[in-house]
Amino acid sequence: MTKLVFATNNPHKIAEIKAQVGDGYAFLSLQDIGCTEEIPETTPTLEGNARQKARFVKEHYGYDCFSEDTGLEIDGLDGAPGVDTAHYAGPERSATANNAKVLAGLAGKTNRSARFRTFICLILEGKEYLFEGRCEGTISTRERGEQGFGYDPVFIPAEGDGRTFAEMTGAEKRRFSHRARAMARLEDFLATKTK
Ligand code: IMP
Repeated sequence: MTKLVFATNNPHKIAEIKAQVGDGYAFLSLQDIGCTEEIPETTPTLEGNARQKARFVKEHYGYDCFSEDTGLEIDGLDGAPGVDTAHYAGPERSATANNAKVLAGLAGKTNRSARFRTFICLILEGKEYLFEGRCEGTISTRERGEQGFGYDPVFIPAEGDGRTFAEMTGAEKRRFSHRARAMARLEDFLATKTK
């Protein structure tokens, strides 16, 4: 079994990825390798932050690893929150406050189109690889649903049936999700490496 550190401590993300990948890989979290410090995310782009996190784990802990960075880009807000997605409404990173700020910012605007983008940076055997996944959609007019996390209650995927991500089961969300798509690219790549 291939051991890879997934540079996150977000249990939602680890659960999503385990469900998607199955038993082929053993994923270690940051907690599993004793990394409790805050990993810097200080570049101006999502892909830059993904690279920065993976390099940090490799340099400081020595493990092959992958990291991911996700952003929500809302056209009616000139691409915001973008790289500021996690702390859009402030450093406490509150999903409730973030969603409220998005809905307030779009009040009265007709263009509610948006997309999630995920970048995964993999460091394996001395090389670095980048994988992207996207999900196009729109922002709802109010929060709907209890599932998922983050901006799920306000994001309606274009390929769905009008429900927000938070109104879907985990399996339904994975059919459309940006992270599932980026992960699928990572998995395809890893499968070719183990052949
Ligand atoms: P990060 O990539 O973990 O830094 O996440 C950035 C921000 O995007 C956080 O506020 C997350 O809650 C949010 N986010 C990441 N993935 C998703 C998702 O699949 N649905 C809703 N929000 C997400």
